[in-house]
Amino acid sequence: MNRTKNQDAPKTFHVKSFGCQMNVYDGERMAEMLGAQGMTAVDDGVEADMVVLNTCHIREKAAEKVYSDIGRLRREDGSRPMIAVAGCVAQAEGAEITRRTQMVDIVVGPQAYHRLPDLIDKAAKGEEALDTDMPAASKFGALPDRPKQPRPTAFLTVQEGCDKFCTYCVVPYTRGAEISRPWGAIIDEAKALVDGGVREITLLGQNVNAWTGEDAKGHAQGLAGLIRALDRMEGLERIRYTTSHPNDMEDDLIAAHGEVAKLMPYLHLPVQSGSDPILKAMNRSHTRDSYLRLLDRVRAARPDIALSGDFIVGFPGESDADFEATMSLIREVGYAYAFSFKYSPRPGTPAADMDRQIPAEVMDERLKILQARISADQLAFNQATVGKRTSILIEKPGRKPGQLVGKSPWLQSVHVYADGARIGDMIEVDIVSAGPNSLAGELAGRKEAA
Ligand code: 5AD
Ligand code: SF4
Repeated sequence: MNRTKNQDAPKTFHVKSFGCQMNVYDGERMAEMLGAQGMTAVDDGVEADMVVLNTCHIREKAAEKVYSDIGRLRREDGSRPMIAVAGCVAQAEGAEITRRTQMVDIVVGPQAYHRLPDLIDKAAKGEEALDTDMPAASKFGALPDRPKQPRPTAFLTVQEGCDKFCTYCVVPYTRGAEISRPWGAIIDEAKALVDGGVREITLLGQNVNAWTGEDAKGHAQGLAGLIRALDRMEGLERIRYTTSHPNDMEDDLIAAHGEVAKLMPYLHLPVQSGSDPILKAMNRSHTRDSYLRLLDRVRAARPDIALSGDFIVGFPGESDADFEATMSLIREVGYAYAFSFKYSPRPGTPAADMDRQIPAEVMDERLKILQARISADQLAFNQATVGKRTSILIEKPGRKPGQLVGKSPWLQSVHVYADGARIGDMIEVDIVSAGPNSLAGELAGRKEAA
């Protein structure tokens, strides 16, 4: 069913992002670009003239979701919006998508979305509109400057792509080789965000700690240098970064955790497994021991740091002993948070062809055991903050009247009643109770939003 051959250009749009924080960021930038073209954002996809599905390919379930989502865009009268599939499924499947469904007009990869306006014109004329190029020239230069939008927190992509080639992972194929955005572009974007009211910036990259560049004076810098420059930016109160690879955790970045006041005490450092043979088969290029020693150094720099990780259970060949090694690593570290997944074979990755794939029931059982332990550790971490006085950045209203929700330095959600406090305020609270997913605080002091 083809919607829009030789029809008017769409006037309204809806962007829906799946998957990681970088997709959230990309979705915002696409929306800003379409807005700058004179199109209007609407909340409801079915009612929009055009819909961008900004997709995730990391696991099979995420990748398949896009097809059911496309189906749901069919209207009662049989018509549908113009549909663009963007993101990592677009990159991985390309023209296969338009072969599999007649409902897609545009396919645009994550390094080509600055060309979306041209692709929309093509699609409106009924022409083929597919762009999965990975141009050497960065898309960022072709995007409009970020509009002022009052909000307390924002993401800022500083690095993209991955050269690590873990054997289970599609990211090196869908996002391409590691690239770092230039220093000046990042500082300018951060300034624009802070001028608009942003008080916390999370620097994003698939391997964010692999960021390298040159500062305004031409000196070589790593992520720590960038963080130190942002620390000097007036109006910015908090800095975070994600996701890091253990092998790119340089000494100066670890030191920054002990020295930079605005750098929050939180580190997401995926390990994936606690078993050396599995880490080797995953091509992780760190060992259980090197990872644990690294965490020792991070904790020496910042003793109260909240650690989080990613885990895959059921990687091909994972024995009971390998899984137990992962569990013992988890017990040793005591994570504040963790994300855990059943291994999902991805087309084109080396692990998909490995022997000894693990049966689904075994993966289910292991995931259950692992998640129970992580939940208990998370609760213990939250309970250990009860009685502390800390700052929170108010992000949104709570569910109950008068209630507000903010984030602690350790990224915990904190519920508080604080008459007159507004979104974007930093307030001091005393933590009075803790659950597995959030804390309750009582107002102790206030610093108004700028
Ligand atoms: N199967 C399951 N989990 C995966 N991840 C990446 N690829 C796969 C896969 N094929 C997980 C890793 C990574 C996180 C973003 O997703 O844990 O750190
Ligand atoms: Fe994927 Fe490994 Fe690169 Fe992370 S480091 S994006 S898991 S290949």
